[in-house]
Amino acid sequence: MDAAMGGNSAPPMPPGRPQPGGAVGDGPVELRGITFAYGEGELRRAVLRDVDLRVAAGEIVLLTGPSGSGKTTLLTLIGALRGMQEGSARVLGQELMGARESQRVALRGRIGFIFQSHNLLGFLTARQNVAMSLELHAGLEEAARLARAAEMLAAVGLADHVDKLPAKLSGGQRQRVAVARALVAEPGLILADEPTAALDRVSGQEVVHMLRDLARRRGTPILLVTHDPRILDIADRIVAMEDGRIIEMQEARA
Ligand SMILES: Nc1ncnc2c1ncn2[C@@H]1O[C@H](COP(=O)(O)OP(=O)(O)OP(=O)(O)O)[C@@H](O)[C@H]1O
Ligand SMILES: [Mg+2]
Repeated sequence: MDAAMGGNSAPPMPPGRPQPGGAVGDGPVELRGITFAYGEGELRRAVLRDVDLRVAAGEIVLLTGPSGSGKTTLLTLIGALRGMQEGSARVLGQELMGARESQRVALRGRIGFIFQSHNLLGFLTARQNVAMSLELHAGLEEAARLARAAEMLAAVGLADHVDKLPAKLSGGQRQRVAVARALVAEPGLILADEPTAALDRVSGQEVVHMLRDLARRRGTPILLVTHDPRILDIADRIVAMEDGRIIEMQEARA
């Protein structure tokens, strides 16, 4: 079925160049036959079944589906937050099946994560939270990290709030800090799990439109899980899951 993927000799795609979603290539996310189960013995239950999915360079893919269909599980496998069981997942060129922990840690450092709850540290200011993402990146002094964090916060419209603690920000502003934190280290991929779930309609749309615009400008691909029909317009492609399988893929714009 995927004989065309057999060879390993395809030249790498230039970064930031979108390809058609269905094309075979060396995209940032290439999943083949992902099957995953929680539990042991009689309690073992498959929650992902033979999932194939790719995200092309620069592409914005939304993953939808009913509660319990396996969306978060799939995202955590792609983000190397959980060990693989079956199939192949090549993410930013790293094969995750059989990968060592050190390889998974290195990959996680190249991914920008955004979760439903912003996960900001309450005792750090907005700027310090964003600067933390740069600590893994050698060669940047603290002053440079803080300066870059402030620039990123300005880009998400929070120039006047850089020194505030998360508790002093609105939900939408906190999620914009989370967007800045995910983007500041120039990740090769953004993974987002229901980033608008805790927000009202207007702030939810503001946050994802901002995320889309910033990612587009840098050619950063996004895989975003959502239940929220109001943000489907940011997608290049919408992928629907049900009961651990992908049931539909739809190009979302001309
Ligand atoms: N740590 C876990 N241990 C056991 N079962 C789990 C675990 N996490 C999730 N599950 C089960 O796996 C299935 C898929 O869960 P998952 O969180 O991936 O779904 P989801 O599509 O993200 O749902 P939602 O839209 O509610 O977030 C569900 O039946 C869930 O109960
Ligand atoms: Mg989920």
